[in-house]
Amino acid sequence: MKKYSFLILFAAAFACKNKPSADAKVAAFAISEAAIGKVDTSTITEYTISNPSGMKVSILNYGGTVTKIITKDKAGNDGDVVLGFDSLAGNLQKGNPYFGVLVGRYANRIAKGKFTLDGKTYQLATNNGPNALHGGLKGYDKVVWTVEKLAGDSCLQLTYKSKDGEEGYPGNVVATVVYTLSSANELKIDYKATTDKATPVNLTNHCYFNLSAGADSTILNHELTLVADKYTPVDTTLIPTGKIEPVKGTPMDFTAPKLIGKDLASVAGGYDHNWVLNKTGKGLELAATLYHVASGRYMEVFTTEPGIQFYSGNFLDGTLTNTKGGKKYVQHAALCLETQHFPDSPNEPSFPSVILKSGETYTHTSVYKFSVK
Ligand code: GLA
Repeated sequence: MKKYSFLILFAAAFACKNKPSADAKVAAFAISEAAIGKVDTSTITEYTISNPSGMKVSILNYGGTVTKIITKDKAGNDGDVVLGFDSLAGNLQKGNPYFGVLVGRYANRIAKGKFTLDGKTYQLATNNGPNALHGGLKGYDKVVWTVEKLAGDSCLQLTYKSKDGEEGYPGNVVATVVYTLSSANELKIDYKATTDKATPVNLTNHCYFNLSAGADSTILNHELTLVADKYTPVDTTLIPTGKIEPVKGTPMDFTAPKLIGKDLASVAGGYDHNWVLNKTGKGLELAATLYHVASGRYMEVFTTEPGIQFYSGNFLDGTLTNTKGGKKYVQHAALCLETQHFPDSPNEPSFPSVILKSGETYTHTSVYKFSVK
């Protein structure tokens, strides 16, 4: 058995060219697909990638939504560690809080939905109080992406062509996202975008994690680490004030593993902030770890991005319908770790730039790695 795991480990880490195994006892990578309904005239398909150790990730062409992540607990039992719906009607319901979706063209908030670029002011829809959130009324989470299975049965490539003027943003953008499941239980997401006119771009994924896989109704008992000594404080509408402040001695301090419930009550509204990652370069670096002691499930998040939004599911209130198993997703039922550029960057010159120009390519890689301990 040891020998097989060793072989598997080297067979396919992050490759899209996994060769079918010659040994029938070693399971292979596979991608299955099932039609689950229609949006307008498009068939909505759920693709499921499975790896040789039995981890499974399901993804829709609608919104590039991750609908399921099945991983083992320390006893070897499978469980689904993301919130989601039991049918497409769930995903399509008004008020779906971005379960599992790809967010774009600009993830997170832009103050008053307004920014100025090359001397021109652009006005976006304000869909979150006075601000623009997650790409607008019909962001990348609510469109049908073109899906291509890449060779090796471990990668899916999704493409969306966003038109000049869509949701008020300038430039024709081509966004490409590759979801890869590795033999080492890593879900890797590679994002790329190009444009023909300067535009802000900030893409992310919005999975809601609960590593108990349905056993715990909230994530208050999950232990979180954020590799960040600083964060961006916000105003009452969750727009950064422009300051970057140390977390030390505050409830925002997750530099050492801490139960999410420990200081949550002293953060008005709950955690919904951007942490400034302690990056040393531009490569993939550890950003966060999440541990659920009872199941033993452990998740590490790596990213090339400068920030991470930790959102503690504050707005979940048990009212979503068509949920998996009819579960009531109550406040703090799950959490999001959205790798990103800082919110409102188009209006905050001191933050790293999010402007993509014609001829440039936006790239972002994030990895969610699952194990037990
Ligand atoms: C992000 C935001 C939250 C909330 C969720 C979706 O995490 O920061 O305020 O809007 O998306 O409900």
